[in-house]
Amino acid sequence: MFHMGWFLNYSVPSWAKDWSGEAARDWVKPDLYIELAKAMERARFDYMMLEDGAFIPDAFEGTSRYYLEKANHAPKLDPATLVPLLLDATRHLGVIMTLATPYYPPFAAARLMSSLALQSDGRAGVNLVTAHNVRTAQNFGRDEHYEHDFRYEMADEWIDLVGRLWDSWEDDAVVGDHESGVFADHTKVHLVNFEGRFYKSRGPLNTIAPTGGHPIVCQAGGSPAGRSLAAKYADTVVASVPGIEAMKEYRADMDERLIAAGRKPSDVKILFTISPVLGETHEEAVAKKARIDATTIEDSLSRLSWSSGIDFSQFDLDSPLPEIKTNAASSSTLGMLQGSNPETTLREIASRPVRLGSLEVSGTPDEVAAVMGEAMDEVGGDGFLIAGQLTRRYITEVTDGLAPALRRRGLIRSEYSGTTLRENLQAF
Ligand SMILES: Cc1cc2nc3c(=O)[nH]c(=O)nc-3n(C[C@H](O)[C@H](O)[C@H](O)COP(=O)(O)O)c2cc1C
Repeated sequence: MFHMGWFLNYSVPSWAKDWSGEAARDWVKPDLYIELAKAMERARFDYMMLEDGAFIPDAFEGTSRYYLEKANHAPKLDPATLVPLLLDATRHLGVIMTLATPYYPPFAAARLMSSLALQSDGRAGVNLVTAHNVRTAQNFGRDEHYEHDFRYEMADEWIDLVGRLWDSWEDDAVVGDHESGVFADHTKVHLVNFEGRFYKSRGPLNTIAPTGGHPIVCQAGGSPAGRSLAAKYADTVVASVPGIEAMKEYRADMDERLIAAGRKPSDVKILFTISPVLGETHEEAVAKKARIDATTIEDSLSRLSWSSGIDFSQFDLDSPLPEIKTNAASSSTLGMLQGSNPETTLREIASRPVRLGSLEVSGTPDEVAAVMGEAMDEVGGDGFLIAGQLTRRYITEVTDGLAPALRRRGLIRSEYSGTTLRENLQAF
């Protein structure tokens, strides 16, 4: 069996796309996302992962025109406002929110995540990102962003400190004894006195110990630095790599890093992004995928510019691309340029269909379920993260079409066996 999740962009869902309803009016309300969470729980999925970025992109053409016209990556609301609503509307589903480690104080993060874990019986998690865009750095008071690998060194110390703060209350510190009138035993609440290269905190945390132990830690980094951080601290990793061979390489590489970090490969559940296109018939699905894949050169250039922070409109479309070096999302940018040789022109790169997932698949629910099962057998785990369009129609296709097909093949759970997200992730 494998795990299933959904990657959610807390921005205008599928703006100007078919079946997206009155997205421009309704996106600020939690309704659609709560419906998604309930549908995912009905489908017995593991977790919803809320993406985040605290900036308006303006790399392409040096302005935010294209991104705001298309509601691409902006505007967004703060996921921290939605997470409690999603956790309150569900009983089993995990909800993972993204925090940018360079710009979120460790004490505040430890307190927020511990509170969410306590309110939800241990179903909350945190996705550690180092915020790839210089505009984020400038929004938080810096002129330049931290260097790529250096910000992963900072993230290592950040999550180490957050973990120590989560441990500052012993699990049985709360006595709650009405007889003696003692709520908590102060001898079981400990100072942290952490002083590192980047962070300092006295502690203890002023919440109580989070339910289920440490909230789930997720990581999305693809570079060696990102993977090493994941191998050391993550419980689940979300990955977007192009195709089966890349998925196998990613899994094998992470297994090596986990063992080197003194952990077991089964300690981390890797979920690969997938955007299945579903139809009543195979032909209908293939036709739908062709429509979805039909992208414009402008759209591709805006994605490359967003991921790299470099304005790709400056390059001659019919010339080979110069070497691209970026301090932003390096592995995802390189992923988009993958398969290019020194002669490949930018037009050829930008004319490729947009790859939304690690596995490109379209067909009837049963056909797609078969492909996902074979892929996971070949890759060796641990599951898929639905990514891409968000409409009520697509939610129904996935949770009421694809999920039952996967279950009929014994590929996903029929019932939750645990209470906390950690128990459900570690169940298989
Ligand atoms: C599935 C997935 C989800 C991601 N979510 C976020 C996010 O919410 N916020 C963000 O700033 N970066 C996000 N990223 C980007 C990563 O944090 C990272 O920048 C990117 O994978 C490049 O990795 P690298 O920095 O290790 O090269 C995501 C990446 C993937 C694959």
